[in-house]
Amino acid sequence: MSMSFLFTFTIIISFGLCILYASAELQRLSHSSKHDGALSFLVLGDWGRRGAYNQSQVSFQMGKVGEKLDIDFVVSTGDNFYDNGLTSDHDNAFQESFTQIYTAKSLQKQWYSVLGNHDYRGDAEAQLSPVLREIDSRWLCLRSFIVDSELVEIFFVDTTPFVEEYFTEPQEHKYDWRGIGPQKPYITNLLKDLELALRESTAKWKIVVGHHAIRSVGHHGDTQELINQLLPILQANNIDFYMNGHDHCLEHISDTESPIQFLTSGAGSKAWRGDIKGMNRRDVNFFYDGQGFMSVKLTQTDATIEFYDVFGNVLHRLTSSKQLHSSM
Ligand SMILES: *[C@@H]1O[C@H](CO)[C@@H](O)[C@H](O)[C@H]1NC(C)=O
Ligand SMILES: [Zn+2]
Repeated sequence: MSMSFLFTFTIIISFGLCILYASAELQRLSHSSKHDGALSFLVLGDWGRRGAYNQSQVSFQMGKVGEKLDIDFVVSTGDNFYDNGLTSDHDNAFQESFTQIYTAKSLQKQWYSVLGNHDYRGDAEAQLSPVLREIDSRWLCLRSFIVDSELVEIFFVDTTPFVEEYFTEPQEHKYDWRGIGPQKPYITNLLKDLELALRESTAKWKIVVGHHAIRSVGHHGDTQELINQLLPILQANNIDFYMNGHDHCLEHISDTESPIQFLTSGAGSKAWRGDIKGMNRRDVNFFYDGQGFMSVKLTQTDATIEFYDVFGNVLHRLTSSKQLHSSM
């Protein structure tokens, strides 16, 4: 009798722990939309070089476009500080490459950032530190998290730990894997949490942001680990856009198996690599090898995405429409 009680008790305890473990949630931040229900933001990647390589020119044009669109926030797709992230949360590069560069009035908004592979080559945890937010309150960088504005949910995914090469052939680079633990369980748990959050999302628009491209014809090309592990989850959950940096260019590629559009904005500073693969691929709608950034404007029914160069010229525009739910 007491044995069976103990047994049942143990089962209940283990089951309870399982549930707790399985429902570990991604951190969720809310960002309310404007009264008219619209939302707009800029997307920038691969930028922190103390203004060099046209970083300052890109910043100047972002300020102008940000003003015109009355942006709500800025998204950074990672590789925030070159060459090797920050050395600590007191590294001057934070002010010299961020605070003193993105000075336009319209850019004094919340920035939501992920880490890129170059950020992992420094003190990765420094970029996540609240100390940076005391220095510049715009800054917010986390590993994986959700920004929820009702109209849109943006799922930020830490893609660097997916890439096998950084573990097996790090060459001269040292990656800061503190806080990640063993690679496999980290990825498995992240994908499980992401899948659950995507499945439960009721937002009109669903956007996923990562540092590495799923599809790219730039220098690094496609990321096979993300094609294998992340893409199926996005395809199964009606994602509208996947946005990334890593390749120092601007790109728009369509998924051949779903309505997902792949958008690269990794042209925040050093660009013009001149290394383009498979431009004649039928899924490639747009590729630009130089510096620039991207803007996104969303309403209940329409998305408008534009790519700009250092002169503020619109190089490419894509629009996407959705039916309003009819109650009739
Ligand atoms: C800066 O942008 C201009 C215009 O696209 C380009 O000609 C120039 O090469 C760029 N400079 C660098 C260092 O990439
Ligand atoms: Zn990168």
